[in-house]
Amino acid sequence: MTRTLYLFCSAAPPVFDVAKVIEAAQARGWDVCLGLTPTAARWLQSSLDGLAALTGHPVRSEYKLPGEPDVWPKADVIVFAPSTFNSVNEWALGLTTKFVVGVVAEGIGKGIPTVAMPCVNAAYAQHPAFERSVETLRAAGVTVLYGEGGFVPNEPGQGRPSEYPWELALDAATAVGRRPDSGV
Ligand SMILES: Cc1cc2nc3c(=O)[nH]c(=O)nc-3n(C[C@H](O)[C@H](O)[C@H](O)COP(=O)(O)O)c2cc1C
Repeated sequence: MTRTLYLFCSAAPPVFDVAKVIEAAQARGWDVCLGLTPTAARWLQSSLDGLAALTGHPVRSEYKLPGEPDVWPKADVIVFAPSTFNSVNEWALGLTTKFVVGVVAEGIGKGIPTVAMPCVNAAYAQHPAFERSVETLRAAGVTVLYGEGGFVPNEPGQGRPSEYPWELALDAATAVGRRPDSGV
């Protein structure tokens, strides 16, 4: 039975590798649905049709209108990567004007297994809100791959998007995602 992975991305440079990450997740057996923040959707505008074709699902960056049907199957796991400083803080604070942040905020209450891998530089990481947000999300049951065993911040201007550790996020999705026989 195919299991569904929602891959959510915000606007940080590793998002440009999302096609290869979708293929890697599909190779692991996931049916992938791609969700983007509005800024990430703007960055990927010229690729959106191709990404929809690759996943076989509409790429979503906006809430549906009231009364519109859900266009995606239900999630067995959500991976929010790269998650920006902005998106991590919005999520922790419960500020849900953006579709993908709304889904993961609600996902905590719904018990959907969720993995976040931030992409922030060392300057953002020193802002007092960030550590609090990571702690808030971890306490709520989100697997946050940050620090040892996850994403380690780079100095401002020295980011290497090609080294963003996507494999860790996919490994964690396999580890925490709902199993077909879990009955959840
Ligand atoms: C070239 C470029 C690179 C950026 N890299 C990052 C980044 O690595 N991490 C981050 O948190 N924000 C980064 N930003 C800033 C975010 O794109 C910006 O805060 C945006 O509002 C995030 O919105 P979102 O969280 O809704 O996607 C970058 C911006 C630009 C223009």
